[in-house]
Amino acid sequence: MVPMQPMSPRLILAPMEGVVDAVMREQLTAIGGYERCVTEFVRVSQTVLPKRVFFRYAPELRHGGLTSSGVPVYLQLLGSDPELMAANAARAADLGAPGIDLNFGCPAKTVNRSQGGAALLRSPQLIRLICERVRDSVSPATPVTAKIRLGYDSDEDFDGILDALSGVSLTEITIHARTRRQGYRPPAHWHQLKKARQRLPYPVIANGELWSPSDIQRCADISGCDAFMLARGALCRPDLGAAVQALYGGDDNADFGWQEARQLLIEFLARNQALYDPRYAVNPVKQWLVYLKVYYPQAAALFAQVKRITDPDEMANALRGEVDFAEAA
Ligand SMILES: Cc1cc2nc3c(=O)[nH]c(=O)nc-3n(C[C@H](O)[C@H](O)[C@H](O)COP(=O)(O)O)c2cc1C
Repeated sequence: MVPMQPMSPRLILAPMEGVVDAVMREQLTAIGGYERCVTEFVRVSQTVLPKRVFFRYAPELRHGGLTSSGVPVYLQLLGSDPELMAANAARAADLGAPGIDLNFGCPAKTVNRSQGGAALLRSPQLIRLICERVRDSVSPATPVTAKIRLGYDSDEDFDGILDALSGVSLTEITIHARTRRQGYRPPAHWHQLKKARQRLPYPVIANGELWSPSDIQRCADISGCDAFMLARGALCRPDLGAAVQALYGGDDNADFGWQEARQLLIEFLARNQALYDPRYAVNPVKQWLVYLKVYYPQAAALFAQVKRITDPDEMANALRGEVDFAEAA
């Protein structure tokens, strides 16, 4: 008898400010494996933001809120005023956002000083109120999700956060399994997600330290989760989503190696050049190479070769391998 395949995991491409923009979403969702994406956080502080701001963060709104591969892009809001958050969520939904995600996990000092992101983990009742107001401000058909950490200084905060969130009708919640104080340092404490699954009446999406298909399997075993948000791992290995699905009998992208990654960088540069001021097109390529170095040894060599390049055409030639670096040096 053929053994039964476990259910394919649901994979979400993480929001990453300054890294995962519309160009990156477009390219990573084209490789496959992802159920949805989330935009970089849109900061809500004093007003209902103008339409152009939402379109800047989510150009996909011009195409039904979907990437070209048909993957929905939820719009993420970060702020601490329940009414303003609700008004901005309503506007984003009116503009066609397929879902609204609320950021209660950002550890940045500037954000936390103005009571945004992870700072709210110290005020679970305010998180609850924001979630409720946002939920009420959009149609019941619009998913409202949130993203939290285990706590601010300590995971002793976690029980209170779960208590506050257990009474809210969120569609799903992503839990980055570290406190704000733990930042991005390994390990992620996946066992805490099991407790969250038992306490919350909606699905829990696991996040933190998911770098490989086997990490997903271990996290699934420890947490019991079947949905995972991939962040830095998705940049280090652009086919991570497809590779995870392949393990469960889904889409594979077995041909994805260093040459494909390099081709991706060439397209990434060209798309950035077309969309933004060409002067700013080179740095995102270097930034992505720093992530790719973790998985591809060849990326380290290429990074060393291109790190001083500032001209986009020169960068394009270098990515295509048309520069004699010994001579250039
Ligand atoms: C450069 C960077 C930018 C990020 N920006 C956001 C953001 O805008 N919104 C958000 O909810 N999380 C943001 N995060 C957190 C990630 O979505 C994710 O929760 C975190 O990286 C843990 O997952 P990982 O260990 O798989 O990387 C960011 C993380 C990084 C490294």
